[in-house]
Amino acid sequence: MHRRVSVLGATGSVGSSTLALMDEAERAGTARFTVAALTGGRNIERLAEAARRWRPELVVTAWPELKSDLEDALAGSGIPVAAGESALIEAALRPADWIMAAIVGVAGLKSTWAAAGTGAIVGLANKESLVCCGPALMARATTAGGRILPVDSEHSAIYQVFPHDHPEGVRRLVLTASGGPFRQTPAAELARVTPERAVAHPNWSMGAKISVDSATMANKGLEMIEAAYLFGMPADRIDVVVHPESVIHSMVEYVDGSTLAQMGPPDMKTPIACALAWPDRLSWPAPRLDLAAMGQLTFEAPDPVRFPALRLAREALEAGGGAPTIFNAANEVAALAFLDRRLAFLNIAAVIAETLERMVKTGADSDFDDACAGALALDAHARRVAIEIVGDLALAA
Ligand SMILES: NC(=O)c1ccc[n+]([C@@H]2O[C@H](COP(=O)([O-])OP(=O)(O)OC[C@H]3O[C@@H](n4cnc5c(N)ncnc54)[C@H](OP(=O)(O)O)[C@@H]3O)[C@@H](O)[C@H]2O)c1
Repeated sequence: MHRRVSVLGATGSVGSSTLALMDEAERAGTARFTVAALTGGRNIERLAEAARRWRPELVVTAWPELKSDLEDALAGSGIPVAAGESALIEAALRPADWIMAAIVGVAGLKSTWAAAGTGAIVGLANKESLVCCGPALMARATTAGGRILPVDSEHSAIYQVFPHDHPEGVRRLVLTASGGPFRQTPAAELARVTPERAVAHPNWSMGAKISVDSATMANKGLEMIEAAYLFGMPADRIDVVVHPESVIHSMVEYVDGSTLAQMGPPDMKTPIACALAWPDRLSWPAPRLDLAAMGQLTFEAPDPVRFPALRLAREALEAGGGAPTIFNAANEVAALAFLDRRLAFLNIAAVIAETLERMVKTGADSDFDDACAGALALDAHARRVAIEIVGDLALAA
């Protein structure tokens, strides 16, 4: 297999796993890669190291003020360097067979949107862009002759067991959730948890923002919205079950009573490999599942009282229009405020609820013409509202 790839967000958890997987596959002699573009943010050292290894045609940092640092780090390499938002778009537009969209948050929307318009296969980790622009993003990729392949382990699982030619055979989708680090933490203690505890996920190693999302279960809410758009499923046919071992990554229940599940060790390289080689399979030195050693798999219902973000996401999906964008923006603002110690953990859901309340009920979620520009405008509006609410809650604390 030979693929010409770009990795947007190459310095993050998913981006680094993508490059590590490519490296392992090349060493195993099962694939070869040419890299068109790599992008990163503030981690110049990691970006330069990746660029020296892969020799992309273009390497970009999102931050113009860090361009000279990147140039210094790559001095003598001959690798072209650029910086800033337009350079990110340029990287996304470079001809490639496969583009990994792994920037975190709505910051990844414009580049994901650009990548989807190229006709390439987009490996989508940046769930926030699907949440904000779902149907339009899917349509854009199809119209351009490409497609969106999910990289989130849950959606990769569903993608692998979903009857793409006969979706009418599906009764419901079941997303599994690890339950995060606070699955068994009493409500009273949740009020006092720190960012350090929130990012210490029991099964997965991830970036800070998604780790907080996992702890609040807002991540599962975003994934519910993501699943609705990817698989054309209404909210009332998507359920969540907590499965602490993270071995079953999600399931499709069929109308005849069958349920198909996809399993694997909790390692992001496996769903990345699936998207990278689809519809083929990439052979790499993957960790293997030893069910006998594991002994048992367990399941439980999510607790709607301690984790209200899941219900809020469902309500946003049901409300439609810009509500998922508002949910996402409020969550990003609140998660960041929690990481900065400006907001208590339990107030993350409170910020989401109040932002939705103020904006959806006052009609500020009204529809827009250009999906990407409209989502960005609505996102900016929702952020202003959420920031105000974070300030009010901080004053009240
Ligand atoms: N981590 C996982 O296991 C996992 C699983 C499923 C889905 N996802 C999704 O994948 C996406 C990435 O998650 P992650 O955990 O890999 O995040 P991460 O480790 O925080 O990495 C984020 C990447 O985005 C870059 N970035 C940050 N702010 C940016 C900006 N304003 N403009 C351009 N680039 C920017 C970062 O650059 P610097 O670090 O250099 O600043 C880094 O390359 C998220 O949407 C997440 O929900 C992650």
